[in-house]
Amino acid sequence: MLYRKLGSSNIDVSIIGFGAWAIGGWMWGGADEKQAIAAIQASLDRGVNLLDTAPIYGFGHSEELVGRAIQGRRDQAVIATKCGLIWDREEGEFHFHADDRGIQSRASEKKVYKCLRPASVRDEVEKSLKRLQTDRIDLYQTHWQEKTTPIADTMAELLKLKQEGKIRAIGVSNANVEHIKQYGQIDSDQEKFNLLDRNLAANGQLDFCRQNNIAVFPYSPLANGLLTGKISPDRKFNPGDLRAANLRFRKENIAKINAKLAELNPIAERRQASLAQIVIAWTFSQPGVTCVLCGARDEIQAQENAAAAEIQLTAEEIETIGRTMA
Ligand SMILES: NC(=O)c1ccc[n+]([C@@H]2O[C@H](COP(=O)([O-])OP(=O)(O)OC[C@H]3O[C@@H](n4cnc5c(N)ncnc54)[C@H](OP(=O)(O)O)[C@@H]3O)[C@@H](O)[C@H]2O)c1
Repeated sequence: MLYRKLGSSNIDVSIIGFGAWAIGGWMWGGADEKQAIAAIQASLDRGVNLLDTAPIYGFGHSEELVGRAIQGRRDQAVIATKCGLIWDREEGEFHFHADDRGIQSRASEKKVYKCLRPASVRDEVEKSLKRLQTDRIDLYQTHWQEKTTPIADTMAELLKLKQEGKIRAIGVSNANVEHIKQYGQIDSDQEKFNLLDRNLAANGQLDFCRQNNIAVFPYSPLANGLLTGKISPDRKFNPGDLRAANLRFRKENIAKINAKLAELNPIAERRQASLAQIVIAWTFSQPGVTCVLCGARDEIQAQENAAAAEIQLTAEEIETIGRTMA
């Protein structure tokens, strides 16, 4: 496993991270708890240290699973969680309705708000520490940016939490360069970035972060599984799985993406790798990318994703992969 610095902190993070959204099952049509814990532990066994979760993933469930999985090996993990999406109070900016399975409709009982008010952030930290069964969060990220709280107020609270030792590094997510400039010195930026969603590179944000020593964590690197080549056009998703209503997962589009991925088979065969591994290796090879947050539902997927770290693509392979999937 290779490790890279997390911004200006003294924390080293593996180039492959474990994304703990799907293991909570919420918005992913359910999940198997035993498999979820085995997936996290298999990742740690292979040198993946960055575990990314959030309170909203299953309304605390994903954080609890991470907390259980790292018992007895806390020091091997770099825990990244988030603040700013709340469901127990109507404060800040309304974001969406959701129920416990993740189904989003007006009839869903929970109302999720974006809220980065200082008192709310402090309250969230305490709840996350309990669910994670730890005394410190290694990386604390604002999950979504919102308009009702000045960024300077949120940042002042985050810096206090850092001084108190409750968090060790500060990051943002779903932010743009203007937001980042208002935060001042942060350590990381977590954004959607994969072969099908390259806006982060095209709009200069990836370069901006690189020039300013901000670690970049691409999320959904496999486009929610579509880029693994393992999703057949006939795949049926469970109720509550966000992919069921996503136009990208229409039959014709799955077939189209699978056909493009098949053109990468010669590279995969030469590298004795799966297509998912080739896609992950392309992602961590992009200049400015620090740690690729791969979601995995079980031990097998987690092991496969972690092993992608061993693949060193040539410049020509990187160019071919990028061109083929454009
Ligand atoms: N900050 C944010 O707003 C935000 C948003 C999204 C994600 N994230 C973070 O990024 C992480 C990853 O993103 P993501 O979960 O959206 O999607 P992803 O990593 O692009 O895809 C994950 C899904 O792909 C499938 N998969 C993964 N590895 C596989 C393998 N080796 N072989 C076959 N299938 C495989 C699994 O689904 P199936 O087995 O069901 O097909 C898995 O749940 C999240 O867990 C979260 O930590 C953050």
